[in-house]
Amino acid sequence: MTILNYTPIDYTIWNPDGSGSNIKTSLASKEWDIWMRALEYQDKRGDSGHAECVTYFALKLLDYVTAERAIVIPAAILHDTGWSQMTKEELGMFHDALTNPTLENKLRKRHEEQGALFVEKLLNTVYYAAGGDITLIRGIINGHDTREGFLSAEDGVVRDADKLFRFTLIHLNIYGSVPNAPTSKEDLAAHINKPGFFYSDAAKQIARIELEHTFKVHEEMQRRGR
Ligand SMILES: [Fe+2]
Ligand SMILES: [Fe+2]
Repeated sequence: MTILNYTPIDYTIWNPDGSGSNIKTSLASKEWDIWMRALEYQDKRGDSGHAECVTYFALKLLDYVTAERAIVIPAAILHDTGWSQMTKEELGMFHDALTNPTLENKLRKRHEEQGALFVEKLLNTVYYAAGGDITLIRGIINGHDTREGFLSAEDGVVRDADKLFRFTLIHLNIYGSVPNAPTSKEDLAAHINKPGFFYSDAAKQIARIELEHTFKVHEEMQRRGR
């Protein structure tokens, strides 16, 4: 197993507003075009910064995992836009769903299906991808939270990137005070080696590095009373 030369997110310079400023220079102009068109539909579950973070990790994982960038990056950017197509009532139910697996599964399936429909409209407007690519991107999005196993390397990279968000300080700051949200260091560490959780070994290593860093920064902030 190769040990990655990976540096965790530097929270002294990371802009947490979710606008895309942290990833802008890493995206090609067509990818940035998708980002900007999707921006108003992002982070609708009160998880500001999620879409940007997932796209950031997808870019990082592409350094270590062989996968088609033309599929991975649009899918990462757009994977959760389905939440924007749901009603206020449905979105409002989500915190309750953390203790109700049937409801949680229903809401997750809804955002996956809505997302797959929505991205077709959005990608067609940017003429980004040929029909085949859109089908693959939709295939990843429709099932990204609930599917067992991975469809492809591209599916693996996108879903690893989505899960890596949980190991960040951004996630801890949002969900740390939400009852029943899995945010303890022990819970998160236990997920890393769970069979079928991560697709790639690179994601496991990044998760360990980000987890250590997140809790180190968090403890320092608490010591300073911030
Ligand atoms: Fe999702
Ligand atoms: Fe997500």
